[in-house]
Amino acid sequence: MKKILTAAVLAIVATTSISNALTREEIEKDPILKGKMLAKRCSWCHDINRTVIAPSFKEILKRYKDVPEETLKKQFTDVIKNGSKGRWTEWMKGHIKTKKVGSVEAMYMPPQKPYYNDKEIELIVNWLLTLKK
Ligand code: HEC
Repeated sequence: MKKILTAAVLAIVATTSISNALTREEIEKDPILKGKMLAKRCSWCHDINRTVIAPSFKEILKRYKDVPEETLKKQFTDVIKNGSKGRWTEWMKGHIKTKKVGSVEAMYMPPQKPYYNDKEIELIVNWLLTLKK
């Protein structure tokens, strides 16, 4: 019995470490997937489709659908680094329940610079722009 248990535990450990290694490898190979993983932090406030306490990523992309990709890349890079305030205040007033957040007027996006380096921000922006399609 003890032997069987040990074998079972070993099997679990083995599969877990293999699947983790694979996932990490896959992420490294796929920059878009890496951007998506890095953007986990954004989901405190943004969902891809739904309004949480900030506009959804689809809503943001809809507003800027006629803006050329290069311009949008620069704008989003700046927003992620340095934050944003005022661009969405009017929209948020109509779409976010004040009970949840207190005052919509006071809401802003804090700079994300402390959490990411330039390369990581680039990966996030590239992933974000794939949601346009
Ligand atoms: C603490 C909440 C919070 C977090 C975390 C957050 N955001 Fe935001 N974000 C906001 C709010 C609020 C706005 C609207 C700001 C405004 O009105 O200008 C916003 C706006 C934006 C915009 C639109 C800016 C524009 O030019 O109109 C983008 C793009 C964006 N966020 C991307 C991100 C990404 C990517 C992350 C993660 C790296 C992130 N945000 C993390 C709250 C957040």
